[in-house]
Amino acid sequence: MHSPLRSNRLTFLSLVLYCFIIINNVTTTTTTTTLTFHEAYSPLFSKFNIHPSPDDKTVRLLLNRFSGSGIISSDYYNYGFFSASIKMPSQHAAGIVVAFYTSNVDTFEKNHDELDIEFLGNIKGKPWRFQTNMYGNGSVSRGREERYRMWFDPTTHSHRYSILWTPTNIIFYVDNIPIREVVRTAGMRGDYPSKPMSVYATIWDASSWATDGGKEKVNYKYEPFVTEFKDLVLEGCIVDPTDQILSSNCTDNIAELMAKDYSNITSEGRKSMKWFREKYMYYSYCYDNIRYPVPPPECVIVPSERNLFKNSGRLRSKMKFHGSHHRRGRANRRRRNKNKGVSDV
Ligand SMILES: *[C@@H]1O[C@H](CO)[C@@H](O)[C@H](O)[C@H]1NC(C)=O
Ligand SMILES: *[C@@H]1O[C@H](CO)[C@@H](O)[C@H](O)[C@H]1NC(C)=O
Ligand SMILES: *[C@@H]1O[C@H](CO)[C@@H](O)[C@H](O)[C@H]1NC(C)=O
Repeated sequence: MHSPLRSNRLTFLSLVLYCFIIINNVTTTTTTTTLTFHEAYSPLFSKFNIHPSPDDKTVRLLLNRFSGSGIISSDYYNYGFFSASIKMPSQHAAGIVVAFYTSNVDTFEKNHDELDIEFLGNIKGKPWRFQTNMYGNGSVSRGREERYRMWFDPTTHSHRYSILWTPTNIIFYVDNIPIREVVRTAGMRGDYPSKPMSVYATIWDASSWATDGGKEKVNYKYEPFVTEFKDLVLEGCIVDPTDQILSSNCTDNIAELMAKDYSNITSEGRKSMKWFREKYMYYSYCYDNIRYPVPPPECVIVPSERNLFKNSGRLRSKMKFHGSHHRRGRANRRRRNKNKGVSDV
């Protein structure tokens, strides 16, 4: 469906994709239950910057000169499907990070698990970018970042972002497009997240690294920066976080999760994923042979993707990327990447 279309026919492509999403919405059989803010989440920090709507279905998280803000799911999940429709701050958003992620760093400080979707601000007029990442059992020295541009402006409408996490695979979705799948392999050992996690949503000042490698700082002239979350979905097995083994009441729940159609990418979904990755991904740790001479065990080297990337995991063709794309020393980059991965592509 997407393969004959060439790179400069963006508008047409977006239209095709849009139709595809609509059709998919009509035919999809999965029903998800939408929760209110207070059913799903609790304030994590800076309650004064957390503003639920009167009907409690939407929550706005603010960043101002005093603080960012964050919310945390009221429960811990051992595997699940976590989703929200998110609208990015519309003002000049350089230096701002909006994150939707799962973690258990509060319970397992030294060997935590984490799955991330992080939106990396933008310079006015330049496209927004975002990354996905994964840690397991405290693998903070082995970042698994992929970075992407978006095929839409995330500030004008809400778009749905989802994380599926099962014992066998992880899928990140944007709207109905699966953008990344990690299939668990034995070689990953503890690097595959497997302990109970909470779900978080935060907005914060990441001036030191988020936009153009930290050159573009948050400009508080434009405060407050507001991100809006709605259509809150948290499905999975609710557990006590200190359970080291899967509580036995999760067995049925996980089977149910894995039988949902979002847990299994259809052939149409594969096509959309291929389209997205070849067109919008601009960094992948799997193709960064400087960082990982041997790609981590879960990496599936897709020849049509591999051809697009240099050994640095960055795109060969600059034409593919119209955003801020500045060169700088790799050594610096490596150093700063220690915890949060590539910081300035
Ligand atoms: C988790 O990490 C610890 C060290 O922090 C290590 O001893 C253990 O083997 C790891 N577990 C797995 C399953 O890899
Ligand atoms: C599993 O057990 C915990 C407490 O032991 C409970 O809170 C949770 O609701 C149970 N989950 C399911 C899916 O039944
Ligand atoms: C997932 O899809 C594969 C092939 O696309 C199929 O063999 C498998 O039965 C599906 N699993 C579920 C749970 O639907």
